Amino acid sequence: MSKKQKTVYTCNECGAAFQKWLGRCPECNSWNTIVEEIQNTSVFKNEILFENSIHPLSQIMSESIQRIPTGIGEFDLVCGGGIVPGSIILLGGEPGIGKSTLALQVAQHCTTLYCSGEETLQQIHLRSRRLNIKPDSIHLSSVTDIDHIESLIRTTTPQLIIIDSIQTLYSREITSPVGSVSQIRYTASRLADVARQTKSCVMLIGHITKDGSIAGPKILEHIVDTVLYFEGDFTRDYRILRAFKNRFGSVNEIALFTMTQQGLSEIKDKNKLFVQSHDASYPGSVISATIEGTRTILFEAQSLVTATSFTNPRRMADGFDVNRLNLLVAVIEKHARISLNSFDIFINVAGGFTIDDTSCDLAIAAAIISSLKNIVIPHSTGIIGELSLSGQVRSASHTLRRLTEFLNSGVTTIILPRSNSTEISNTGFTGTLIPITTIAELTQILQHL
Ligand SMILES: Nc1ncnc2c1ncn2[C@@H]1O[C@H](COP(=O)(O)OP(=O)(O)OP(=O)(O)O)[C@@H](O)[C@H]1O
Ligand SMILES: [Mg+2]
Ligand SMILES: [Zn+2]
Repeated sequence: MSKKQKTVYTCNECGAAFQKWLGRCPECNSWNTIVEEIQNTSVFKNEILFENSIHPLSQIMSESIQRIPTGIGEFDLVCGGGIVPGSIILLGGEPGIGKSTLALQVAQHCTTLYCSGEETLQQIHLRSRRLNIKPDSIHLSSVTDIDHIESLIRTTTPQLIIIDSIQTLYSREITSPVGSVSQIRYTASRLADVARQTKSCVMLIGHITKDGSIAGPKILEHIVDTVLYFEGDFTRDYRILRAFKNRFGSVNEIALFTMTQQGLSEIKDKNKLFVQSHDASYPGSVISATIEGTRTILFEAQSLVTATSFTNPRRMADGFDVNRLNLLVAVIEKHARISLNSFDIFINVAGGFTIDDTSCDLAIAAAIISSLKNIVIPHSTGIIGELSLSGQVRSASHTLRRLTEFLNSGVTTIILPRSNSTEISNTGFTGTLIPITTIAELTQILQHL
């Protein structure tokens, strides 16, 4: 194998490579993200024999996926049932959200090599004491040279290798600086190879900022098997871990934790987490249910509709897409014949949870009407359904799951699409169903609750 040097220009945002420098990346449209990098490319000579490189699909022996449960139920749930030997996981999130904390908590359940280029070993020791981590199976290292790490992995063969963070690793074969796209991509793919060969699991920790920028996680997504991102609001103590890609499980699952002095703790009563004032009903507040993977979560949508002092009334939403809100407002105006152009409208999903589920449209619309008309919708009433542009109420998905969760939480009256109500009527469901077909009907019903 001979080596030759070549200069390329790579985008720090998306990893695209170009022959010359550009102010704006044509791939992802980001400005000033393209940097010069020297690459050593390996050129294979023709005499390398490629025998044994083709295998008939029918003769591949099937191996069932072995999983190692980590003892943290929520983490196992998003991984698809535990960590998979030979796989590589990317754990991304904003600085300070709890990546190192989670990694250390997972580490105590396996034989682990924890490579930290971010913090000193003393800092990790202090954290492990605070988190009450069983130290026996964990070995720490502050090595960041990929060759050195690879030999550590091959000699000690741990079940789990934690790299905190991938931005601190480097290879002497790559001339570009630590943290650059080339370094990150190269060291990560080396680790992916080592993981596959040694049947250990590698967890890469990567930083991202709020807008998802900074070299790293984005360009790694296709190298790794599983991408987990931490979300959460720093003003609140809970954290959501979401799978964005998973070669070994569903990407619909979320894990819910609270951040405490002793680290991340699993939330027991998850379904009611995002309902704040379950007993006190007031105008503008509506209970609904959303689906996240195998989990059904009850939440409270809050709306405030007030006379505006602007020529363009304000539309603001926290935990809900503001474009969807504008659309719902237009549907209410046109099909329920309620004029909203002289009102500011604010929507908030209690607890800071984010709803991305069109089956919750009707609940948001109901919250707006409830606030505007000063109607109290009792919290014993739940609302589900999607709204179409024509003002029709469309079927919600997973209706029975949502309804069952309502009943479990004492929500016994449910306003729902008529199409769903016929489907539910044969299931022996014991709650009171109020079926509707249009947004205009919703207004009528709310006034007589
Ligand atoms: N003594 C403490 N009591 C309670 N919570 C703490 C304590 N110390 C730290 N935390 C929590 O832990 C969080 C930091 O966690 P951690 O270091 O795991 O984050 P990280 O994502 O690894 O951050 P970084 O990107 O800086 O490495 C803090 O934001 C805080 O919420
Ligand atoms: Mg950290
Ligand atoms: Zn780009």
